[in-house]
Amino acid sequence: MKYLIRTYGCQMNVHESEKLAGILESMNYSPCTSASEADIVIFNTCAIRESAEQKTFAHIGELKKLKAQKPSMLIAICGCMSQQNGYAELIKKKFPYVDIILGTHNISDLKELIEKRLATKKKVVAITESEDISGRDNMPKCRTSGLNAWVNIMYGCNNFCTYCIVPYVRGREVSRPACEIEKEVHELVEAGYKQITLLGQNVNSYKGPDGEGEIGFADLLKRLDKIEGDFWLTFMTSHPKDISNELIDTMASSTHIMHYLHLPVQSGSDRVLSLMNRRYTTAAYLEKIAYARKKIPDIEFSSDIIVGFPTETEQDFLDTLSLVKKVKYEQLFMFIYSKRGGTVAEKLDGQVDIATKKERLRRLIAAQEEIGTSVAEKYVGKTLTVLVNDVHPKKKGYMLGTTYFNKNVNFVGDRSLIGKKVKVEIQSSKLTVLTGKIVEEL
Ligand code: 5AD
Ligand code: SF4
Repeated sequence: MKYLIRTYGCQMNVHESEKLAGILESMNYSPCTSASEADIVIFNTCAIRESAEQKTFAHIGELKKLKAQKPSMLIAICGCMSQQNGYAELIKKKFPYVDIILGTHNISDLKELIEKRLATKKKVVAITESEDISGRDNMPKCRTSGLNAWVNIMYGCNNFCTYCIVPYVRGREVSRPACEIEKEVHELVEAGYKQITLLGQNVNSYKGPDGEGEIGFADLLKRLDKIEGDFWLTFMTSHPKDISNELIDTMASSTHIMHYLHLPVQSGSDRVLSLMNRRYTTAAYLEKIAYARKKIPDIEFSSDIIVGFPTETEQDFLDTLSLVKKVKYEQLFMFIYSKRGGTVAEKLDGQVDIATKKERLRRLIAAQEEIGTSVAEKYVGKTLTVLVNDVHPKKKGYMLGTTYFNKNVNFVGDRSLIGKKVKVEIQSSKLTVLTGKIVEEL
């Protein structure tokens, strides 16, 4: 029996697909690379923007013919799109050949749902909401991200940024018990993973059960940092309103935590930030960046920005450009605002036309290209510690690695180096990658 999982969207989904794969492999399914070979195809969907939705619908549509030829092949839809209000009905109507629809809270029920579908021959829909997360990490996980292992520390989001569908499809924030996270990280380090990435929609509001009491994110990091072994620790996503000086101090004094912070700003206009319900000002944001740079001089930042939020004026956009130029992000993820059903921003007057949105995105990309290129240039001539991840997929004789501030590096080497740390002298740079030569193996 073979399975194929198609994953859309963020790292949370990538990791949930690793859990789905773990369940399927415990049922004796093995992976395959094309739907024509598969006995089950799972679409792990994303709902964050309309474009993600359209792409997924198109891909589900492509399976219609194959399913008619091979009715025994199961098709399952899970992830944020299936959890969206009314979407299970929509999927059933649009794609009557889909067998199983499961929500974001039902991933761990996959085995039972497949068995039910096979036994009853009826369509199975399981979309429930529950704050009981005790079963969500119990399955074996088929990890697919090389030396990096994802670890969920919390589920859901309470922030209700006005543009965002996540709180509606992922439910309220619930944190995993600290001892469970500690155990998982410990086991992963023992198993040889070299980078651990903690996952949550807003990791800074982590508040997990710990013995009789509760523990916050900075204390959780301190605890994980004490685990012995050769590994880097990082986390995403941080909300600027919740990131504390204590957290930065913890990063600064830690052994394992990477000098990298993904801190989505979304807009450089205070008026727009307020309409987005982000609950910080650009001044407060810049203060946090400055504090982090003071405590961790070699830290690098990345961010998310939305252009064309309802009512965004040319001046608001210029304020965003100006903030981006001030911060000098190492990397920027830039998005055109997309209207999401059920969110507050959907109903706002002053939706921006698509031509203006595209033009602003183009200008932002151009600005960031210049900034990111100059951020990368400053490393030329420097010697950096690099974790060797893999052989380069395209450049013969080259290896791929990452720095402790999350930048890709290319250098000549061989696969015996995978998993080791090396010192690389940087000789040239591009927007997304540094190139250098190994000067020392650590
Ligand atoms: N339109 C465009 N981008 C969005 N994001 C979230 N919701 C929307 C939306 N409706 C972006 C934000 C967030 C990232 C994961 O996706 O920038 O940080
Ligand atoms: Fe969405 Fe805001 Fe929650 Fe992030 S913090 S998932 S942008 S609502």
